[in-house]
Formats: sequence, C-alpha cells, structure tokens
Amino acid sequence: MSIGKEIIRIENLRREFMVGGEKVKALRGISFTINEGEFVTIMGTSGSGKSTLLNLLGCLDTPTSGEYLLDEISVRSMSKNQRAVTRNRKIGFVFQNYNLLPKTTAIENVELPLLYNTSVSAKERREKAIASLKSVGLGERLNHKSNQM
Ligand SMILES: Nc1ncnc2c1ncn2[C@@H]1O[C@H](COP(=O)(O)OP(=O)(O)O)[C@@H](O)[C@H]1O
Ligand SMILES: [Mg+2]
Repeated sequence: MSIGKEIIRIENLRREFMVGGEKVKALRGISFTINEGEFVTIMGTSGSGKSTLLNLLGCLDTPTSGEYLLDEISVRSMSKNQRAVTRNRKIGFVFQNYNLLPKTTAIENVELPLLYNTSVSAKERREKAIASLKSVGLGERLNHKSNQM
C-alpha cells in the first residue's frame, strides 16, 4: 500500500490530571507521526494512557502541553467550535459498546453523524448510509431497529 502525507503528528504530548491534590501523569511526553493510509494499533496495559491518548487524538480533550497537528493544522490553535467541526469531518469513533440508538433503524444510526454535516444532502446521506451497510454485509438489515441487529 502506498503511504501518503502526514495526517497526525504529535510532539512531546503530555496530559496530567489533578486528583485530590495529586498530579497523575497519564501521558509523559510522547511523539509519533501517522501517515495517510497507515493502519495503527495502540497497545498497552490498563492505565497506561490509551484512552487519554485517544481522547486527545479525537479532539475530545486538550493536552497539558505538547503539540498535535492534524492534517498539518495545530489542534491547540483551534477554537472549541473548530474542534467540533474537525471531529465531524475528519474523525470517526467506533465505541466498545457501539452506542447505537435502540429505537431507530440501522440506516438511521449510520446516517446520524452525517446529519450534523451541512455539506451533505439528505439524498446523499441516505445513499452513503445504504452503501456503507451493504459494504459490511448488512444490506438486508436496512430497516431493522438497531436493537434487532
Ligand atoms: N479524567 C481523569 N481524571 C484523573 N485521572 C485520570 C483521568 N483519566 C485517566 N486518568 C488516569 O490516567 C492514567 C491513564 O488512564 P487511561 O488513559 O484511562 O489508561 P488506559 O485507557 O490505557 O487504561 C491512569 O492512571 C488513570 O487513572
Ligand atoms: Mg482505556
């Protein structure tokens, strides 16, 4: 596979939490880059900082210090709104417990993130959702409620 441009660059990233007057150092200055087309796994023992790192990479949290460049833009320089738009356009999370909405159909669950993207029309949203479900072999589940998936 060809490896493209730099998508993620973190430099000396630190995240500390204050817990009852004690400083917990969750991330102690980590640096790496991830290029377009790369498939990366983060592994470590419980408490080693995986969730903390994912929250930072996903723009859900901000570091105590250090730099995070996403698509060559410094996340630190973004406003809260810009980070929200970035999450909407560039980041996808698959949660451990899926977080599907049980009373809505499979297709509505897949469509949901695109609902918050004004540059995608309703028709395009529906088409993309159908194509996505079909691509993972769930084409015949389109109108099932997600609690029946
Ligand atoms: N919101 C928080 N407040 C205080 N301490 C936290 C918080 N989040 C994580 N930590 C601490 O940071 C360290 C890393 O936690 P975490 O990122 O959840 O690790 P992992 O996901 O690898 O199990 C742990 O010591 C944890 O207790
Ligand atoms: Mg975790």
